[in-house]
Amino acid sequence: MKPLRKEIVSSLHLQARVEELGRQITKEYQGRQMVLLGVLNGAFIFAADLCRAIDLDLEIDFIRVTSYGASTESSGTIRLLKEPSIDLTGKDVLLIEDIVDTGTTMAWLQDHFRQSPANTVKICSLIDKKERRSVPVDVDYIGFSLDKGFLVGYGLDCAEKYRNLSAIYSLD
Ligand code: IMP
Ligand code: MG
Repeated sequence: MKPLRKEIVSSLHLQARVEELGRQITKEYQGRQMVLLGVLNGAFIFAADLCRAIDLDLEIDFIRVTSYGASTESSGTIRLLKEPSIDLTGKDVLLIEDIVDTGTTMAWLQDHFRQSPANTVKICSLIDKKERRSVPVDVDYIGFSLDKGFLVGYGLDCAEKYRNLSAIYSLD
């Protein structure tokens, strides 16, 4: 296993930013029928913290897509392995992701849910990592914009390890 290299975002900084995002989302989704859709597995911690920072009567569900597997390279093939169980008809869906890298996953998910009966579909990603972006995608809410690096912690993994770390670290 690679050793941990460098702390990129501290636990305190993460908490403060999640609170800020929560306040912004609370204002912007007033009076809406909001559904948070967390993308498993990477977004499980971010979604858990963010939903408690949003002061609205919302619904929460999770979806699962194919991901990197044990490698640090994207396969480029997206499949939805778990559909939401909530009826999205007329709802304002906010997709919660850990990181947007090449953009393949989020562009595919946005397109998929825009074909659903949801009223609106927006994206909130903890990290927007621009260096390898190959598919354009508009991320509506961004926790942190970072250029590069393979990041782990706070839900982000490398071969399923490091998800339980409270801060975000770079492995390369
Ligand atoms: P994309 O389809 O290339 O945008 O990749 C999105 C998915 O790749 C994310 O949901 C993560 O699961 C994974 N991923 C991309 N970059 C990283 C990283 O730096 N650390 C951990 N996972 C990553
Ligand atoms: Mg992910």
